[in-house]
Amino acid sequence: MLQQSVKAFVGFRGLLSKYAAPYSTRLFSTSTGFKTDGTGRILPHGGELVDLSVTDPQEKKELAASCKFTQECSDRNACDVELLSVGGFSPLKGFMNRDVYDHVVANMRLPQSNLIFGLPVVFDTENEAVKEGDRVLLKYKGQNIGVLEVESKWVPNKAKETKECYRTSSLEHPGVQMVAMERGKYYLGGKVWGLDIPKREFPCATPREVRALLPAQQDVVVFQCRNPVHRAHYELFTRALHAPNVRPGAVCLVHPTVGPTQDDDIPGIVRYHTYEVLKAELQNPAIKWAYLPYSMHMAGPREAIQHMLIRKNYGCTHFIVGRDMAGSKSCLTGEDFYGIYDAQDFAKKHAEELGMQTVPSADVVYTEERGYVTVDEAKKDGLHVRKLSGTKFRQMLRAGEDIPEWFAFKSVVSVLRAHTQSS
Ligand code: ADX
Repeated sequence: MLQQSVKAFVGFRGLLSKYAAPYSTRLFSTSTGFKTDGTGRILPHGGELVDLSVTDPQEKKELAASCKFTQECSDRNACDVELLSVGGFSPLKGFMNRDVYDHVVANMRLPQSNLIFGLPVVFDTENEAVKEGDRVLLKYKGQNIGVLEVESKWVPNKAKETKECYRTSSLEHPGVQMVAMERGKYYLGGKVWGLDIPKREFPCATPREVRALLPAQQDVVVFQCRNPVHRAHYELFTRALHAPNVRPGAVCLVHPTVGPTQDDDIPGIVRYHTYEVLKAELQNPAIKWAYLPYSMHMAGPREAIQHMLIRKNYGCTHFIVGRDMAGSKSCLTGEDFYGIYDAQDFAKKHAEELGMQTVPSADVVYTEERGYVTVDEAKKDGLHVRKLSGTKFRQMLRAGEDIPEWFAFKSVVSVLRAHTQSS
């Protein structure tokens, strides 16, 4: 399986790079068009960008006053409310009702429209009293961020949800643990009104704002990450602009998720500072930056689909997907839950249906002779590979040891070190 996937990649010598690039040349023709809106940018998922936000202060007041219950949102709920409000989850206009949830869990599609949708978007509660027809004021750290009109309330079959969406119901999986142990007993579905956008230490541009940042009539290649940008990532997204299926004039949107993620990842707020220093250092007009208020589920293949449809809503046409995207390991055995290219293969398989393209990358490693190349090439040519695991990297940071520049940018390391020392 690994061999097959690696074989599918061929070397490409980009103008800017002395290394062989990891992209396939046989996936797409360069002339493939996207369905665009009146501004020449890709149409959102389902055709229209949803906007649930209420701006009139009086209307906000009345909506809040119409609520029978109040619930403090978790960090994850707050991300979902924000993404629903600004249209990041278009065409959804609220949290999924039971029938929609069941259909998405079982078929990865919305009922009726049959639109592909990677993962359910649900609101959880322990509230026994709330019932269908009630309104709930959604609060987050002192703000009123939304109102949910409950159209359905149910006890979800979490074993089925996780088995279908995460391919496992084992509590050794961090996403399964989150569904089973962090989320409440009930799910509530229904229409949402967006009130105030959660105040964050870093601004998260809305899909409308990001679209305005992007050039019209051009390819927009998005780079999703939940880690600081290290050299391997940088190679991936700079080379992506020269991938065979990306037209000249394209831009790359680096769009890290800054909501909750698995426990041993670096928190969003620290990563935000690393991205800002790198952005200032690179000063590359072809690289745009924005932050996504999304909570990672580590659901591998199905999460890749979720990321793609969200990025389509933000105006992106191409999605960079490398090795083990949104993957996770057992917290007991350290074994991977997904194959190294499962998410990538799944994303490729569904790209056409999503109306997007992928920019796939094989696993890249640093070699003494040629810098970053694919694992396959390093093996074939007997190159000397240098490796640094995430765990070892964090240990070295804590111990104040020098981090090799082939692995990470100096500026990024100093931000991380400052944080490591202060925490
Ligand atoms: S992820 O959860 O979106 O996978 P992460 O920050 O780990 O976040 O990775 C961001 C993107 O870079 C993903 O598409 C991942 O597959 C890709 N990636 C990271 N490291 C490598 C690598 N060494 N080789 C190929 N792809 C990589």
